[in-house]
Amino acid sequence: MTTIPTLNQPLSELNEQDFANFADLACKLIDDAQNETQLQELKVALQGKKSEITVLSKQMGGLDANGKKTYGAYLHELRTRLSKAFDERGAFLAFLALNEKLASEQVDISLPARGVATGSLHPITHITQRMKQFFTQAGFSVATGPEVESDYYNFEALNIPDHHPARAMHDTFYFDAHYLLRTHTSGVQIRTMESSEPPLRIICPGRVYRCDSDQTHSPMFHQMEGLMISKSSNFAELKGIIHEFLNAFFGKEMTVRFRPSFFPFTEPSAEVDILSDNGKWLEVLGCGMVHPQVLRNCGINPDEYTGFAFGMGIERFAMLYYGISDLRLFFQNDLRFLKQFA
Ligand code: DAH
Repeated sequence: MTTIPTLNQPLSELNEQDFANFADLACKLIDDAQNETQLQELKVALQGKKSEITVLSKQMGGLDANGKKTYGAYLHELRTRLSKAFDERGAFLAFLALNEKLASEQVDISLPARGVATGSLHPITHITQRMKQFFTQAGFSVATGPEVESDYYNFEALNIPDHHPARAMHDTFYFDAHYLLRTHTSGVQIRTMESSEPPLRIICPGRVYRCDSDQTHSPMFHQMEGLMISKSSNFAELKGIIHEFLNAFFGKEMTVRFRPSFFPFTEPSAEVDILSDNGKWLEVLGCGMVHPQVLRNCGINPDEYTGFAFGMGIERFAMLYYGISDLRLFFQNDLRFLKQFA
Protein backbone atom coordinates (compact mmCIF):
# COMPACT_ATOMS: atom_id res chain seq x y z
CA MET A 1 0.00 0.00 0.00
CA THR A 2 1.42 3.34 -1.04
CA THR A 3 1.61 6.12 1.55
CA ILE A 4 0.03 9.33 0.36
CA PRO A 5 2.33 12.32 1.16
CA THR A 6 0.92 14.90 3.45
CA LEU A 7 1.55 18.61 4.12
CA ASN A 8 0.24 18.27 7.65
CA GLN A 9 0.09 22.01 8.51
CA PRO A 10 -2.51 24.77 8.28
CA LEU A 11 -2.30 26.56 4.95
CA SER A 12 -0.90 29.74 6.35
CA GLU A 13 2.12 27.94 7.78
CA LEU A 14 3.25 26.34 4.56
CA ASN A 15 5.80 27.78 2.22
CA GLU A 16 6.60 27.34 -1.44
CA GLN A 17 9.17 24.63 -0.71
CA ASP A 18 6.62 22.58 1.22
CA PHE A 19 4.33 22.63 -1.78
CA ALA A 20 7.19 21.75 -4.13
CA ASN A 21 8.25 18.79 -1.95
CA PHE A 22 4.69 17.57 -1.71
CA ALA A 23 4.29 17.87 -5.47
CA ASP A 24 7.54 15.92 -6.07
CA LEU A 25 6.43 13.05 -3.85
CA ALA A 26 2.92 12.97 -5.28
CA CYS A 27 4.19 13.04 -8.86
CA LYS A 28 6.58 10.21 -8.06
CA LEU A 29 3.66 8.14 -6.79
CA ILE A 30 1.63 8.94 -9.89
CA ASP A 31 4.53 8.00 -12.16
CA ASP A 32 4.77 4.67 -10.35
CA ALA A 33 1.12 3.74 -10.79
CA GLN A 34 1.05 0.35 -12.46
CA ASN A 35 -2.42 0.38 -13.91
CA GLU A 36 -5.61 2.37 -14.39
CA THR A 37 -7.05 1.19 -11.06
CA GLN A 38 -4.07 2.38 -9.05
CA LEU A 39 -4.17 5.68 -10.92
CA GLN A 40 -7.84 6.18 -10.04
CA GLU A 41 -7.14 5.43 -6.38
CA LEU A 42 -4.41 8.09 -6.39
CA LYS A 43 -6.74 10.60 -8.03
CA VAL A 44 -9.26 10.15 -5.27
CA ALA A 45 -6.59 10.40 -2.56
CA LEU A 46 -4.78 13.43 -4.04
CA GLN A 47 -7.56 15.40 -5.74
CA GLY A 48 -10.79 14.07 -4.24
CA LYS A 49 -13.23 15.76 -1.88
CA LYS A 50 -11.38 14.48 1.18
CA SER A 51 -7.89 15.12 -0.16
CA GLU A 52 -5.50 17.46 1.60
CA ILE A 53 -5.62 19.89 -1.33
CA THR A 54 -9.37 20.23 -1.01
CA VAL A 55 -9.12 20.70 2.75
CA LEU A 56 -6.42 23.36 2.36
CA SER A 57 -8.34 25.10 -0.42
CA LYS A 58 -11.20 25.60 2.00
CA GLN A 59 -8.85 27.50 4.31
CA MET A 60 -8.29 30.13 1.57
CA GLY A 61 -11.35 32.03 2.78
CA GLY A 62 -9.60 32.85 6.08
CA LEU A 63 -6.61 34.54 4.45
CA ASP A 64 -6.06 38.20 3.68
CA ALA A 65 -5.74 39.46 0.12
CA ASN A 66 -1.99 38.99 0.06
CA GLY A 67 -2.25 35.45 1.49
CA LYS A 68 -4.96 34.57 -1.02
CA LYS A 69 -2.71 35.64 -3.85
CA THR A 70 0.34 33.77 -2.59
CA TYR A 71 -1.38 30.56 -1.54
CA GLY A 72 -3.77 30.67 -4.45
CA ALA A 73 -0.73 30.57 -6.68
CA TYR A 74 0.89 27.72 -4.70
CA LEU A 75 -2.27 25.64 -4.80
CA HIS A 76 -2.80 26.38 -8.45
CA GLU A 77 0.75 25.35 -9.24
CA LEU A 78 0.30 22.16 -7.21
CA ARG A 79 -2.98 21.25 -8.94
CA THR A 80 -1.47 21.91 -12.33
CA ARG A 81 1.53 19.65 -11.65
CA LEU A 82 -0.66 16.85 -10.37
CA SER A 83 -3.07 17.08 -13.30
CA LYS A 84 -0.20 17.02 -15.75
CA ALA A 85 1.33 13.98 -14.00
CA PHE A 86 -2.02 12.17 -14.04
CA ASP A 87 -2.56 12.93 -17.73
CA GLU A 88 0.90 11.75 -18.72
CA ARG A 89 0.77 8.59 -16.63
CA GLY A 90 -2.76 7.87 -17.85
CA ALA A 91 -1.73 8.23 -21.46
CA PHE A 92 1.30 6.02 -20.94
CA LEU A 93 -0.73 3.28 -19.19
CA ALA A 94 -3.30 3.40 -21.99
CA PHE A 95 -0.49 3.01 -24.48
CA LEU A 96 0.89 -0.01 -22.59
CA ALA A 97 -2.57 -1.57 -22.36
CA LEU A 98 -3.12 -1.14 -26.08
CA ASN A 99 0.24 -2.71 -26.88
CA GLU A 100 -0.52 -5.62 -24.60
CA LYS A 101 -3.90 -6.12 -26.27
CA LEU A 102 -2.38 -5.96 -29.73
CA ALA A 103 0.30 -8.46 -28.78
CA SER A 104 -2.24 -10.88 -27.30
CA GLU A 105 -4.52 -10.62 -30.32
CA GLN A 106 -1.75 -11.03 -32.83
CA VAL A 107 -2.59 -13.44 -35.62
CA ASP A 108 -0.05 -16.21 -35.99
CA ILE A 109 0.06 -16.58 -39.74
CA SER A 110 2.17 -19.71 -39.41
CA LEU A 111 -0.73 -21.62 -37.73
CA PRO A 112 -2.36 -24.23 -39.96
CA ALA A 113 -5.68 -23.09 -41.44
CA ARG A 114 -8.89 -24.33 -39.88
CA GLY A 115 -10.10 -27.36 -41.86
CA VAL A 116 -12.99 -26.86 -44.25
CA ALA A 117 -15.55 -29.65 -43.84
CA THR A 118 -16.12 -30.99 -47.31
CA GLY A 119 -18.79 -33.50 -48.16
CA SER A 120 -18.11 -36.78 -49.91
CA LEU A 121 -19.91 -39.14 -52.22
CA HIS A 122 -22.39 -41.52 -50.67
CA PRO A 123 -21.08 -45.11 -50.82
CA ILE A 124 -24.02 -46.10 -53.05
CA THR A 125 -23.16 -43.30 -55.47
CA HIS A 126 -19.56 -44.41 -55.41
CA ILE A 127 -20.44 -48.03 -56.16
CA THR A 128 -22.87 -47.00 -58.92
CA GLN A 129 -20.09 -44.99 -60.54
CA ARG A 130 -17.73 -47.94 -60.29
CA MET A 131 -20.31 -50.15 -62.05
CA LYS A 132 -21.06 -47.55 -64.70
CA GLN A 133 -17.37 -47.11 -65.39
CA PHE A 134 -16.99 -50.69 -66.60
CA PHE A 135 -20.11 -50.80 -68.74
CA THR A 136 -19.68 -47.39 -70.34
CA GLN A 137 -16.14 -48.43 -71.33
CA ALA A 138 -17.70 -51.55 -72.87
CA GLY A 139 -19.95 -49.37 -75.05
CA PHE A 140 -23.14 -49.37 -72.94
CA SER A 141 -24.98 -46.08 -72.58
CA VAL A 142 -26.94 -45.05 -69.49
CA ALA A 143 -30.74 -45.09 -69.74
CA THR A 144 -33.29 -43.98 -67.17
CA GLY A 145 -36.98 -44.52 -66.53
CA PRO A 146 -39.67 -43.30 -64.13
CA GLU A 147 -39.86 -44.53 -60.55
CA VAL A 148 -43.64 -44.26 -60.61
CA GLU A 149 -44.28 -46.92 -63.21
CA SER A 150 -47.28 -48.47 -64.83
CA ASP A 151 -48.27 -52.08 -64.31
CA TYR A 152 -47.61 -52.60 -67.99
CA TYR A 153 -43.91 -51.66 -67.95
CA ASN A 154 -43.16 -53.12 -64.54
CA PHE A 155 -44.91 -56.48 -65.14
CA GLU A 156 -47.08 -57.04 -68.18
CA ALA A 157 -44.59 -56.29 -70.96
CA LEU A 158 -41.95 -58.27 -69.07
CA ASN A 159 -44.01 -61.38 -69.51
CA ILE A 160 -45.44 -61.22 -65.99
CA PRO A 161 -49.21 -61.16 -66.60
CA ASP A 162 -51.82 -60.52 -63.92
CA HIS A 163 -51.97 -63.29 -61.31
CA HIS A 164 -48.57 -64.64 -62.41
CA PRO A 165 -46.90 -66.13 -59.30
CA ALA A 166 -43.76 -64.05 -59.99
CA ARG A 167 -45.69 -60.95 -58.92
CA ALA A 168 -45.93 -62.29 -55.40
CA MET A 169 -42.14 -62.08 -55.07
CA HIS A 170 -42.14 -58.33 -55.64
CA ASP A 171 -43.95 -56.92 -52.54
CA THR A 172 -45.23 -54.07 -54.67
CA PHE A 173 -46.28 -50.64 -53.45
CA TYR A 174 -49.39 -49.94 -55.56
CA PHE A 175 -50.96 -46.52 -56.08
CA ASP A 176 -54.02 -47.97 -57.80
CA ALA A 177 -54.82 -50.78 -60.24
CA HIS A 178 -52.48 -49.33 -62.88
CA TYR A 179 -49.69 -47.43 -61.16
CA LEU A 180 -47.04 -48.53 -58.71
CA LEU A 181 -43.53 -47.75 -57.46
CA ARG A 182 -41.29 -49.75 -59.74
CA THR A 183 -40.09 -52.94 -58.09
CA HIS A 184 -37.13 -53.34 -60.41
CA THR A 185 -35.32 -51.50 -63.20
CA SER A 186 -36.35 -54.08 -65.82
CA GLY A 187 -39.14 -51.82 -67.11
CA VAL A 188 -36.45 -49.59 -68.61
CA GLN A 189 -35.61 -52.50 -70.98
CA ILE A 190 -39.11 -52.27 -72.42
CA ARG A 191 -39.09 -48.48 -72.66
CA THR A 192 -35.71 -48.53 -74.41
CA MET A 193 -36.67 -51.27 -76.87
CA GLU A 194 -39.88 -49.39 -77.68
CA SER A 195 -38.17 -46.08 -78.28
CA SER A 196 -34.96 -47.12 -80.04
CA GLU A 197 -33.97 -49.39 -82.89
CA PRO A 198 -31.66 -52.33 -82.19
CA PRO A 199 -28.76 -52.93 -81.84
CA LEU A 200 -28.93 -51.71 -78.24
CA ARG A 201 -26.52 -51.64 -75.36
CA ILE A 202 -27.78 -49.96 -72.19
CA ILE A 203 -27.43 -49.98 -68.45
CA CYS A 204 -30.00 -48.45 -66.16
CA PRO A 205 -29.06 -47.63 -62.57
CA GLY A 206 -31.84 -46.35 -60.34
CA ARG A 207 -34.03 -46.49 -57.27
CA VAL A 208 -36.54 -49.30 -56.85
CA TYR A 209 -39.10 -50.02 -54.12
CA ARG A 210 -40.40 -53.07 -52.32
CA CYS A 211 -42.39 -53.40 -49.12
CA ASP A 212 -39.64 -55.17 -47.25
CA SER A 213 -37.29 -54.17 -44.43
CA ASP A 214 -34.65 -56.08 -42.51
CA GLN A 215 -30.88 -56.35 -42.29
CA THR A 216 -30.53 -57.03 -46.01
CA HIS A 217 -33.66 -55.32 -47.35
CA SER A 218 -34.86 -51.75 -47.40
CA PRO A 219 -38.15 -50.43 -48.86
CA MET A 220 -36.10 -48.28 -51.22
CA PHE A 221 -32.93 -49.64 -52.76
CA HIS A 222 -30.99 -49.46 -55.99
CA GLN A 223 -30.60 -51.76 -58.95
CA MET A 224 -28.66 -51.66 -62.13
CA GLU A 225 -30.21 -53.21 -65.19
CA GLY A 226 -28.34 -54.15 -68.32
CA LEU A 227 -29.62 -54.96 -71.79
CA MET A 228 -27.90 -55.85 -75.01
CA ILE A 229 -29.75 -56.58 -78.25
CA SER A 230 -28.07 -57.46 -81.53
CA LYS A 231 -28.27 -59.95 -84.34
CA SER A 232 -25.66 -62.17 -82.77
CA SER A 233 -25.96 -61.85 -78.96
CA ASN A 234 -25.65 -65.17 -77.20
CA PHE A 235 -25.21 -66.67 -73.76
CA ALA A 236 -21.42 -67.00 -74.17
CA GLU A 237 -21.20 -63.24 -74.70
CA LEU A 238 -23.38 -62.65 -71.63
CA LYS A 239 -21.14 -64.89 -69.54
CA GLY A 240 -18.02 -63.15 -70.82
CA ILE A 241 -19.29 -59.64 -70.08
CA ILE A 242 -20.57 -60.53 -66.62
CA HIS A 243 -17.36 -62.29 -65.67
CA GLU A 244 -15.25 -59.38 -66.94
CA PHE A 245 -17.45 -56.96 -65.03
CA LEU A 246 -17.06 -58.89 -61.78
CA ASN A 247 -13.26 -59.05 -62.23
CA ALA A 248 -13.13 -55.31 -62.89
CA PHE A 249 -15.50 -54.42 -60.06
CA PHE A 250 -13.74 -56.43 -57.37
CA GLY A 251 -10.32 -55.72 -58.83
CA LYS A 252 -9.17 -59.33 -59.04
CA GLU A 253 -9.78 -62.56 -60.96
CA MET A 254 -13.10 -63.92 -59.65
CA THR A 255 -14.39 -67.46 -59.54
CA VAL A 256 -17.89 -67.22 -60.96
CA ARG A 257 -20.77 -69.70 -61.26
CA PHE A 258 -23.84 -69.41 -63.50
CA ARG A 259 -26.66 -71.31 -61.84
CA PRO A 260 -29.85 -72.08 -63.80
CA SER A 261 -32.79 -70.04 -62.54
CA PHE A 262 -36.10 -68.60 -63.63
CA PHE A 263 -37.22 -65.10 -64.60
CA PRO A 264 -40.35 -64.62 -66.70
CA PHE A 265 -38.56 -62.14 -68.99
CA THR A 266 -35.51 -64.28 -69.81
CA GLU A 267 -35.09 -67.76 -71.21
CA PRO A 268 -32.80 -69.38 -70.34
CA SER A 269 -32.23 -67.57 -67.05
CA ALA A 270 -29.40 -67.79 -64.58
CA GLU A 271 -28.30 -66.46 -61.25
CA VAL A 272 -24.66 -65.62 -60.86
CA ASP A 273 -22.65 -66.51 -57.79
CA ILE A 274 -19.14 -65.48 -56.84
CA LEU A 275 -16.85 -67.57 -54.67
CA SER A 276 -15.99 -65.60 -51.54
CA ASP A 277 -12.67 -65.77 -49.69
CA ASN A 278 -14.17 -68.06 -47.06
CA GLY A 279 -15.23 -70.58 -49.71
CA LYS A 280 -18.92 -69.67 -49.78
CA TRP A 281 -20.90 -69.00 -52.96
CA LEU A 282 -22.60 -65.61 -52.85
CA GLU A 283 -25.39 -64.72 -55.25
CA VAL A 284 -24.76 -61.36 -56.90
CA LEU A 285 -27.10 -60.97 -59.89
CA GLY A 286 -29.73 -62.38 -62.19
CA CYS A 287 -29.48 -62.60 -65.95
CA GLY A 288 -30.56 -64.46 -69.05
CA MET A 289 -31.41 -64.30 -72.74
CA VAL A 290 -34.29 -61.90 -73.35
CA HIS A 291 -37.49 -63.93 -73.73
CA PRO A 292 -38.79 -63.93 -77.36
CA GLN A 293 -42.18 -62.77 -76.09
CA VAL A 294 -40.59 -59.71 -74.47
CA LEU A 295 -38.90 -58.84 -77.77
CA ARG A 296 -42.21 -59.27 -79.57
CA ASN A 297 -43.96 -57.05 -77.00
CA CYS A 298 -41.55 -54.30 -78.03
CA GLY A 299 -41.90 -54.83 -81.77
CA ILE A 300 -38.57 -56.60 -82.19
CA ASN A 301 -38.51 -59.75 -84.33
CA PRO A 302 -37.01 -62.59 -82.23
CA ASP A 303 -36.05 -64.44 -85.40
CA GLU A 304 -33.83 -61.53 -86.39
CA TYR A 305 -32.57 -60.27 -83.01
CA THR A 306 -31.46 -61.88 -79.81
CA GLY A 307 -30.42 -60.22 -76.58
CA PHE A 308 -29.40 -60.70 -73.04
CA ALA A 309 -30.25 -58.83 -69.89
CA PHE A 310 -29.02 -58.71 -66.33
CA GLY A 311 -30.03 -57.02 -63.13
CA MET A 312 -28.20 -56.48 -59.87
CA GLY A 313 -28.73 -54.90 -56.51
CA ILE A 314 -26.33 -52.02 -55.95
CA GLU A 315 -26.52 -52.23 -52.14
CA ARG A 316 -25.59 -55.89 -52.35
CA PHE A 317 -22.44 -55.02 -54.30
CA ALA A 318 -21.66 -52.17 -51.91
CA MET A 319 -22.01 -54.51 -48.92
CA LEU A 320 -19.68 -57.05 -50.49
CA TYR A 321 -17.21 -54.41 -51.65
CA TYR A 322 -16.95 -52.61 -48.30
CA GLY A 323 -17.67 -55.57 -46.01
CA ILE A 324 -20.88 -54.11 -44.56
CA SER A 325 -23.35 -56.49 -42.96
CA ASP A 326 -26.40 -54.24 -42.45
CA LEU A 327 -27.92 -52.65 -45.52
CA ARG A 328 -29.91 -50.15 -43.45
CA LEU A 329 -26.66 -48.31 -42.58
CA PHE A 330 -26.68 -46.84 -46.09
CA PHE A 331 -29.87 -44.93 -45.38
CA GLN A 332 -29.54 -43.86 -41.74
CA ASN A 333 -27.33 -40.90 -42.68
CA ASP A 334 -25.08 -41.37 -39.68
CA LEU A 335 -22.09 -39.16 -40.44
CA ARG A 336 -19.78 -41.46 -38.48
CA PHE A 337 -20.63 -44.16 -41.02
CA LEU A 338 -20.66 -41.96 -44.11
CA LYS A 339 -17.36 -40.21 -43.34
CA GLN A 340 -15.51 -43.49 -43.67
CA PHE A 341 -16.06 -43.41 -47.41
CA ALA A 342 -14.66 -39.89 -47.96
N1 DAH B 1 -35.55 -57.80 -62.30
C1 DAH B 1 -34.91 -58.82 -61.50
C2 DAH B 1 -35.18 -58.56 -60.03
O1 DAH B 1 -35.52 -57.49 -59.69
C3 DAH B 1 -33.44 -58.85 -61.74
C4 DAH B 1 -33.14 -59.34 -63.11
C5 DAH B 1 -32.94 -60.68 -63.30
C6 DAH B 1 -33.05 -58.46 -64.17
C7 DAH B 1 -32.63 -61.16 -64.57
C8 DAH B 1 -32.78 -58.92 -65.43
C9 DAH B 1 -32.56 -60.27 -65.60
O2 DAH B 1 -32.68 -58.12 -66.50
O3 DAH B 1 -32.27 -60.74 -66.86
O4 DAH B 1 -35.04 -59.46 -59.24
